[in-house]
Amino acid sequence: MSDGGEGLYILLVSVHGLIRGHNLELGRDADTGGQVKYVVELARALAERPEVARVDLLTRRVEDPKVDPDYAVPLEPIAPKAHIVRIPCGPRRYLRKEVLWPYLDAFADNALQHLRRVGRLPDWIHSHYADAGYVGVRLASLLGVPLVHTGHSLGREKRRRLLDQGLRAETIERQYNLTQRIEAEEMVLDVAQLVIASTTQEVEQQYALYDNYHPDSMVVIPPGIDLSRFYPPRRGWFRPPIFQELARFLREPKRPMVLALSRPDERKNIPTLVRAFGEHQGLRALANLVLVAGNRDDIQAMERGPRQVLTEILLLIDRYDLYGQVAYPKHHGPHDVPLLYRLAAKSKGVFVNPALTEPFGLTLIEAAASGLPVVATEDGGPRDIVALCKNGLLIDPLDADAMGEALYEALTDQARWRRWSKAGVAGAHRHFSWSAHVTRYLREVRKLLKRPRRRRMAAAARSRLPTSERLLVSDIDNTLIGDREALDALLARLKAHEGRVSLGVATGRRLESTVQVLREWGVPMPDVLITAVGSEIYYGPNLVPDLGYQRHIDYRWRPQALLEAMEGLPGLQLQPPEEQRPYKISYFVDVSRAPSPREIQRTLRQRDLHVNVVFSHNAFLDLLPVRASKGSAVRYVAVKWGIPLDHILVVGDSGNDEEMLSGITLGVVVGNHSAELERLRGRERIYFAQGHHAWGILEGIEHYDFLGERAGAAGEPRREAS
Ligand code: GLC
Ligand code: MG
Repeated sequence: MSDGGEGLYILLVSVHGLIRGHNLELGRDADTGGQVKYVVELARALAERPEVARVDLLTRRVEDPKVDPDYAVPLEPIAPKAHIVRIPCGPRRYLRKEVLWPYLDAFADNALQHLRRVGRLPDWIHSHYADAGYVGVRLASLLGVPLVHTGHSLGREKRRRLLDQGLRAETIERQYNLTQRIEAEEMVLDVAQLVIASTTQEVEQQYALYDNYHPDSMVVIPPGIDLSRFYPPRRGWFRPPIFQELARFLREPKRPMVLALSRPDERKNIPTLVRAFGEHQGLRALANLVLVAGNRDDIQAMERGPRQVLTEILLLIDRYDLYGQVAYPKHHGPHDVPLLYRLAAKSKGVFVNPALTEPFGLTLIEAAASGLPVVATEDGGPRDIVALCKNGLLIDPLDADAMGEALYEALTDQARWRRWSKAGVAGAHRHFSWSAHVTRYLREVRKLLKRPRRRRMAAAARSRLPTSERLLVSDIDNTLIGDREALDALLARLKAHEGRVSLGVATGRRLESTVQVLREWGVPMPDVLITAVGSEIYYGPNLVPDLGYQRHIDYRWRPQALLEAMEGLPGLQLQPPEEQRPYKISYFVDVSRAPSPREIQRTLRQRDLHVNVVFSHNAFLDLLPVRASKGSAVRYVAVKWGIPLDHILVVGDSGNDEEMLSGITLGVVVGNHSAELERLRGRERIYFAQGHHAWGILEGIEHYDFLGERAGAAGEPRREAS
């Protein structure tokens, strides 16, 4: 971690949903909920810390008339040191998270452009949910920076629940794309140095379902809550308008309130609560039951799940004849929620969460902060919260009698009620404020990052690509290597400009032999390795393959049909199997017998086969996908990392370098080039050096003043303002 005096730079990634700095549209759709709120509040809380210099929250950019134009703004400041950065990713319109998978590579690539504008690598990346996890893994390995992950919810757990509900496996897969999600989760659990969970149960029961379960790199830090919104009723407080709404239902509206607040979801178990209340005479004589269960217009028109729950509630109210004692308002807004807790606290009431399972229980913390004691299901979240806040009782959600009794007890011991109320407020502040969260967060991240790394990121070194201004891409054989003295002179020259200039190689060799020959010649690991004649790209020093490039060049590639079509042609012999690559088919050529490259091209086209035919050294023939070549690989790298083409020097000696040498990059042909490159003579931006091998490269560097050592524009660092 380089804190180097400039303060921490933290990159948060949360891809889906609608995220902005104000008026969050929570509950607008399934993707805009708790996680959206969490990441915005985390970003703000981190930015408040003095040791943090900058927090960027990366999310998807959405340009869609169906949603607010706020979500199309590329950069939105949300606090003095925090921004929401909206990254283009696939189609412009708003898409649900299940269909975003094909566009996540584009998200990662576009995120690199953002880092180039910032001009600095983050100290760590923190991804939220599986989709951002996928992006985070790509970015972390490309950049060589650590990854922190928060799952928010997990695919394996979701699948288990849906199967329990009796849904068919195929239906689940079609609707939720769970296989892809779980695969991404496995990958992120494998790569992340630290996983942050909200509860112990999440770690022990949910993450434990994964193959890559590493509990030693998981910590439980409950999310913070916004304490400026949740606080106890103050003296002289007036009952808010929502009170009138409740009073319509209640004969004595000022009685202590038993408040339940949840979606009308079966798992929330509200009917059992109505039963508990209905059956307990003491409770009925003392209190009112207030059920705030989402918003509705017409129960008949709702989806089956909530319709059944609400219908059951209404029938139970009727069965127990609870008229005048139960309020169940049709509507409430997000601003009413803190008011409801305060109203209930003011009435000396109690908050109840009777859910069948409760891994977390944010509402319990909100109630605690509002000075409202709680009665809640004995499960992961409530257990942690009540243990820390000492503000209520735990119950068995299936035992209606015990639930009624617990509620009654909670309301009748006045002294204890006051103790609980106070303890809840104090506990919420001590354990569940965002500032408490961030204090622990920063401590845990720093502790973990200091540990010797065991996993795949072990050897990770930070990439220079996002911050270097220039890139030298050289062919290897007969160009970079061949003359020891020249190579050493070149390497020394580059070393003097380390950090400003990145090194790339572009070669016909495959990766292993590339790495081997570079090692033999003592060339430090390049930042970019374009191998197999431009059909593969890797980024050093971790040799991360560019999967996006593979997908890009796959277009029209039919290797089997190609091999068959080539079979009858004279003078061609397949190179050994290790030279055949997924996107490269290579032959040795006997030029006296073989058809010319142009004739081969024509023969293949007649069979509707479209390839790039590359002929070099009068001896080799490579068939590549139409989109693949050393040149297109260089351009792909330039776009991905935001390096202007006229800041890239390319050097080669033979036919497979030809395409790379053309165009607006700064081209250099070494003196010892082979005949097929002669036709480039006289072209703009192609310099024919006298010197052989790396002497030619050095000559080219001089020619273009590539390192900016002479006065003038070429040497000016080019960086956009952040
Ligand atoms: C390298 C490769 C070979 C290829 C040649 C020309 O020698 O090993 O497969 O045909 O470059 O590109
Ligand atoms: Mg060569």
